[in-house]
Amino acid sequence: MKVISVVGTRPNFIKEFFIHNELKDRGIEEILVHTGQHYDYEMSKVFFEDFNIARPDYHFENSSLSSIQQVANIMIYMEDVLKKEKADCTLIYGDVNSTLAAAIASAKFRIPVVHVEGGIRSSSLYNPEEINRRVSDHLSTLIFACTRTDYENLLKENFTKDRIVLSGDIMKDVILYMVKKDNIGVKRGDYSVVTIHREENVESEERLTHIISGLTKSNEKIIFPVHPRTKQKLEKYGLIDTVIKNSKIEIKEPQSYREFVKLLAGANKVITDSGGVRREGYILKKPVIVLIDITWFPEILEAGWKVIVDADSARIVDAIRNFEPPKTHPEIFGDGYAYKRIVDNLIDRFGDL
Ligand code: UD1
Ligand code: UDP
Repeated sequence: MKVISVVGTRPNFIKEFFIHNELKDRGIEEILVHTGQHYDYEMSKVFFEDFNIARPDYHFENSSLSSIQQVANIMIYMEDVLKKEKADCTLIYGDVNSTLAAAIASAKFRIPVVHVEGGIRSSSLYNPEEINRRVSDHLSTLIFACTRTDYENLLKENFTKDRIVLSGDIMKDVILYMVKKDNIGVKRGDYSVVTIHREENVESEERLTHIISGLTKSNEKIIFPVHPRTKQKLEKYGLIDTVIKNSKIEIKEPQSYREFVKLLAGANKVITDSGGVRREGYILKKPVIVLIDITWFPEILEAGWKVIVDADSARIVDAIRNFEPPKTHPEIFGDGYAYKRIVDNLIDRFGDL
């Protein structure tokens, strides 16, 4: 059995590398393709170091392109890989442009596509991640859903049960592993962590200005590892000085996974527009404040651990100061063994008879 895994961005690396090590442990051949979508040291290589992975088998050049150029380029790269490697399936992760491009190329090549983290849906049709997910799911032979809601979303779209597996969420597997391995203490400390990078927030001067205004007006201690796209936009909109000069806000480079998990583990609250960070915040029992009005993982909202404040500065201030979740904390993201279930299913489906 031979698997091609395609990764391109920070959240892909974290999820894939855990699967990568499991495939290796079980003696399954994997060809690792890095599309080059993320390329700064802090957004890419650092994760190879975190997970002790030498280098990808293919690593393409793809920096700073538009979405459409990125998808087109990656499809062309993938054609060569697919032709040469003749794999049994292509593994794709999440909802980024690399995911979509690899799904289209692989399906065109009649190599079965396997989508890890499928079935997430929102009503925002033109959200970039929504486009990528919907198309990737529909081109996939096998889809692993993180949560029951994601699984049911696929049933509602008439996916047959032989195409979908409720695996649980690898992000949970990985974060629990990291906390245990590095003996990281989880407590509600005296600062909150913020991450911002969604296109809807950073490409809009108005929204980013309101968000920064909410953070500064809260007058609470905040640690802010800044995504490179967000840094560029803070500079462009003239907001960077406001952040740097604010004594309560500490900005940092994007962190390695290990360092970021330490930050999360010690945080009082998590303020984010990220799909992954909101789940990690919940898993580590942090109140989660969401800076975009898209309800991915409605289960966290229903459990009372997430408040959606969008880019409304007054609501951001109020949530940072006052939002508290209930005492109950239901299990949403599986049992910490999604990665094993994924590899078991790959072997069942594509392994030698
Ligand atoms: C992408 C994904 C998003 C995911 C995020 C994870 C898409 C459509 N978006 O968003 O779903 O949540 O990754 O972090 O695939 N840049 C750098 N250095 C880097 C990477 C990016 O400077 O290493 C800058 C470049 O100016 C680049 C811009 O950020 O053009 C946007 O990068 P891109 O990968 O297109 O989107 P993200 O915002 O990172
Ligand atoms: N992350 C990290 N360093 C950081 C910020 C985030 O390692 O400085 C990790 C985080 O723990 C999570 C993943 O990156 O596992 C989330 O990626 P991101 O927020 O960029 O993308 P999304 O999940 O929204 O697609």
